Amino acid sequence: MTIDFKQDILAPVATDFATMDTFINEGITSKVALVMAVSKHVVEAGGKRMRPIMCLLAAKACGTEDLEKHRKLAAIIEMLHTATLVHDDVVDESGLRRGRPTANATWNNQTAVLVGDFLISRAFDLLVDLENMVLLKDFSTGTCEIAEGEVLQLQSQHQPDTTEATYLDIIHGKTSRLFELATEGSAILSGKDQYREPLKRYAGHFGNAFQIIDDILDYTSDAETLGKNIGDDLMEGKPTLPLISALQNTVGDDHDLIRKSIATGGTSDLDKIIQIVQNSGALDYCRKRATEETHTAIQALHELPNSQYRLALEKLALLALNRIQ
Ligand code: IPE
Ligand code: IPE
Ligand code: MG
Ligand code: MG
Repeated sequence: MTIDFKQDILAPVATDFATMDTFINEGITSKVALVMAVSKHVVEAGGKRMRPIMCLLAAKACGTEDLEKHRKLAAIIEMLHTATLVHDDVVDESGLRRGRPTANATWNNQTAVLVGDFLISRAFDLLVDLENMVLLKDFSTGTCEIAEGEVLQLQSQHQPDTTEATYLDIIHGKTSRLFELATEGSAILSGKDQYREPLKRYAGHFGNAFQIIDDILDYTSDAETLGKNIGDDLMEGKPTLPLISALQNTVGDDHDLIRKSIATGGTSDLDKIIQIVQNSGALDYCRKRATEETHTAIQALHELPNSQYRLALEKLALLALNRIQ
């Protein structure tokens, strides 16, 4: 099955999406010129806008007709996402994002951290306007867990003994949690409590699959396709699933080299590591795990009524998986 992003996924919510996109730009207002410049730099570079699309489709899949508030929620989610990227690029010392030099590379770390803080605060400022205490609480708890995920990852940096279970905890926090907020938040705002749990489950497993795929691509893709540099994970000594799995599948020199690379970081052995990761079957294992997570995600959607919107959510998960197939 070939999936067409515009026709199969975007079309059912195209008008709401366009309005939402203008909200993102309008939402970013500040009397401080530097705040505006840095925010615009990142936001205008685009991105796939996957989380806001998920939020809008989830609302429709719950049977909501009027998406006025959901458009705002979707814009808030993209703003939070952008903030986490700005902070993440400081932590990861990354130089390229969405095909542009990162905020930290264009300005400096201090500026990027502070403007990232602004974006999170502004997102909550706008969230309060939606006047929904349950939603506000869900987002407050959720963003704490996102921050915890990034800190947990920092703790596992340079640790070759990191397990797959710890890796899953990390990616659930740093990535899947925001996916969950996008869809569960949508159900909360719609007043459809019965769909909160299945939509959260869909997004959580989708997020896991998405991050596993992203971690594969860090070893297999290229900067032009991704809009960010590859090899960044190895550079930082991050024990992502391709390396955790390669460690399980190797012995001797290859095994020792991966352990050493995680412990020291750096990309001097990148080519050799890519070769080991590929030959050891680690990437096959990662693909298998991403496929399983995607299917668990889609399974959760079956608790929602059948509709073109539910189908679009299903196709979105499959499209993300197709990035590696
Ligand atoms: C990047 O997310 C961060 C990860 C969770 C891997 P996206 O790949 O959705 O980033 P943009 O928004 O499209 O740039
Ligand atoms: C994604 O983490 C950022 C967040 C989820 C906060 P990564 O560091 O793994 O992703 P990229 O490669 O920088 O997009
Ligand atoms: Mg990063
Ligand atoms: Mg990171």
